[in-house]
Amino acid sequence: MFNNGNIGFLLKVSEKFLNFNGLPESKLDSEILLSFILQIKRFELYFVRNFNLTNEQISRFEKYIIRRSNREPLVYIMESSGFMGFEFKVNRNVFIPRFETELLVDTVLKIAKTNKNNNAVLDLCTGSGCIAISLAKLGNFKNITASDINNNVLEIAKKNVKINNVSNINFIKSDIFSNMHDDKFDIIVSNPPYVSKFEYSFLDYELRYEPKLALLAQDNGLFFYKEIKNKALKHLNKNGSLLLELNANKSNIIKNMFMADDNYKNIEILNDYSGLPRILKVNVK
Ligand SMILES: C[S@@+](CC[C@H](N)C(=O)[O-])C[C@H]1O[C@@H](n2cnc3c(N)ncnc32)[C@H](O)[C@@H]1O
Repeated sequence: MFNNGNIGFLLKVSEKFLNFNGLPESKLDSEILLSFILQIKRFELYFVRNFNLTNEQISRFEKYIIRRSNREPLVYIMESSGFMGFEFKVNRNVFIPRFETELLVDTVLKIAKTNKNNNAVLDLCTGSGCIAISLAKLGNFKNITASDINNNVLEIAKKNVKINNVSNINFIKSDIFSNMHDDKFDIIVSNPPYVSKFEYSFLDYELRYEPKLALLAQDNGLFFYKEIKNKALKHLNKNGSLLLELNANKSNIIKNMFMADDNYKNIEILNDYSGLPRILKVNVK
């Protein structure tokens, strides 16, 4: 596709190509991918516009642009994502950390600040480990446990532990709570799969690159909320906190489920930065 390695030329042609393929941010995408290859900041491209890429760099750029034209998320192409200001390695086995989920981390940190008993935390359905690792970086917890059902995902989470230089996280392979035995926690936090089959059919094309295991939940998207509500009781200390990221379309249904259960108190929904109901925060009695 590219018969010339001049950076200014490559940026123009790739932008046109992505635009032709319907990518709304074609200029931005081209610049991000090229600056990633050159390992420079995006604004620095301006200063190297007259330079040439090597043949190896041209061929990498071409491959990346073709992948992007097929709607593959930039984060998967670059195998790296940002969350809470930290870097996380990702690949197509792993759910891409989302900005909305940062509120979950902020909320856990706030709870931990006001209650000195919050020493043991469980991050259920950890994925890239972004929640557990951010808590380890920013909080002061004695124990952090992170679990996921998928071994490939846990491998990436362990790599992210190393990249981020943290040490106090235990990983458990577990189908929800099945391998937690009698372990007890002061806080359980989770961003579980919550997309129903019906909702999945309307998702943006890019989301289809993400693992179905991380997105889809049976029972009209409520399976994990129901399981966690019933099974977290055994694993939370008295007055312990449970924080769940919500499917914003079902926040009231999920809240009502917890209201109808006498074991829970202080049931609250927190809105995210765009005003959508995003977190359910409850305590056990
Ligand atoms: C929405 S992703 C969340 C990942 C990460 N916590 C985040 O917020 O970016 C859900 C995760 O749940 C995991 N998962 C799916 N089914 C599970 C199950 N039955 N038990 C435990 N984890 C499960 C998936 O592998 C995926 O990593």
